Amino acid sequence: MADTVASSASVNRLKSPVTLPCGRVVPNRFAKAPMEELQAPFGGGLPPTRLLNLYKEWAEGGWGMIITGNIAIDQTHLGTPFDVTFSKSVSSADMDRYKEYAKSCQAGKAPSTSNQHTRPLAIVQLVHAGRQSGRGFGRYPWKASMAPSAVPMATAAGSLPWPLSSAFDWLMWGSCRAMTTAEVEDLVKRFADAAEVVHDAGFDGVELHGSHGYMLAAFLSPRTNLRTDKYGGSARNRFRIVEEIIVEIRRRLPKAFVVGIKLNSADYVHGGLTEEDALLNVQWLAEMGGVDFVEISGGNYENPSFLTSDFNADDEMAKLSETTSHQSVKPTPPVKASTKKREAFFSNFARRAAAALPAPTADSPHRMALILTGGLRSRTGCLRALEDAEVDMCGIGRASALLPDLPRSFTDESVSEEEAIVPAPDMALHPPGLLKLVPLKLVGAGWTTLYHAAQMGRIVKGLKADPNIGGWSLLKGLV
Ligand SMILES: Cc1cc2nc3c(=O)[nH]c(=O)nc-3n(C[C@H](O)[C@H](O)[C@H](O)COP(=O)(O)O)c2cc1C
Repeated sequence: MADTVASSASVNRLKSPVTLPCGRVVPNRFAKAPMEELQAPFGGGLPPTRLLNLYKEWAEGGWGMIITGNIAIDQTHLGTPFDVTFSKSVSSADMDRYKEYAKSCQAGKAPSTSNQHTRPLAIVQLVHAGRQSGRGFGRYPWKASMAPSAVPMATAAGSLPWPLSSAFDWLMWGSCRAMTTAEVEDLVKRFADAAEVVHDAGFDGVELHGSHGYMLAAFLSPRTNLRTDKYGGSARNRFRIVEEIIVEIRRRLPKAFVVGIKLNSADYVHGGLTEEDALLNVQWLAEMGGVDFVEISGGNYENPSFLTSDFNADDEMAKLSETTSHQSVKPTPPVKASTKKREAFFSNFARRAAAALPAPTADSPHRMALILTGGLRSRTGCLRALEDAEVDMCGIGRASALLPDLPRSFTDESVSEEEAIVPAPDMALHPPGLLKLVPLKLVGAGWTTLYHAAQMGRIVKGLKADPNIGGWSLLKGLV
């Protein structure tokens, strides 16, 4: 087959800048999606200096926006034992390290049709892991994690027979306890405190991690938020914590500071957040103002299928409808077969979200940007996401670990359509040896995460990513 040359129009579309509501300009349409790098010291801590090599590589790779791996705002609730943490009571030496981190993310020139705005925007993803903080991840193993409500984790239900499933989850996650109203109010302040540190370090903005089942996503979900105070009881009340955090960050920091959030299009679990709930969240964010972007994702540890390569949101919804009579699970309108084949996992929802956004006005000429993350691996897939799903930017996670200069390659007209693709490596998708026999979705998702973290680990050490690594070389990539 003859190589298909990229058209200037399509490359220019990918290189076109996006102006955010706060006035900051993203030089092109590529956002490096947040990915936990597993590089901080055990128990969480400062970003190690070697981690900065990875961010320099991405900055040079042409990304318009670089979102860091999640950074924990609470050292007692880590998502992994190796999370970077940002603390309010920061020493000047620690602040210097944070500043170096910000500079590394900004040390590049992104391909752009704009001559003025070419530096990547450096965004820190802030997270509180909540009930998805594993047993002993930053706190004593016998201490319960904090959550909106005391709803225990259920990652093994459906995969292992009861009581094995409950025993597995109990061992892995321990118990969780409902936060008091005062603790929720305090959490709002702590997110804003962390955003201040991010600002003072010289980053361009923050993204709140409101997806994948972590604390804010657990507040938004009707399955995990059973509260009867002002933070629960209705979809609007479940959204309140997100609203208060954004208002508080806006109150404390200058207008040009970028504020975004990663949200689920659905949880794809029984009784969890549905697309209807998710659409309301997007609408409320647009209405309240002060939000620059929403990164769209989906799923959580109880259904981590979004970390497979053939995830299909409509099939996941259909599976739920088949097995539940839960009223709130409404399958999305049927999609064309051609849409199903597309890379972007959540494009159907993204199109609905884009349609629900208010049209720009003279007072607010730039709409809240939508970033679509999940499954994107090719230039054609990215262009389709922009055109068919009507999003503003393409969020790319795993492919960015394998090809750190993906934006440079995809915007190079001499790179043919056949070459402008990062194939999903088989090694990443199938756990090796006996691990294959463990019938837990979490194992597959965990393996994919380790595989890509190992690729990042190689870049940290000054090596190239290697899609063929497995076994020992993979583990070596992590240390
Ligand atoms: C190694 C690894 C680490 C991840 N860490 C994060 C994270 O810290 N925060 C987050 O929001 N998503 C995280 N994700 C999910 C990605 O941001 C993204 O939503 C997911 O990988 C699907 O996008 P992709 O197909 O482009 O990889 C991680 C994914 C991987 C593979």
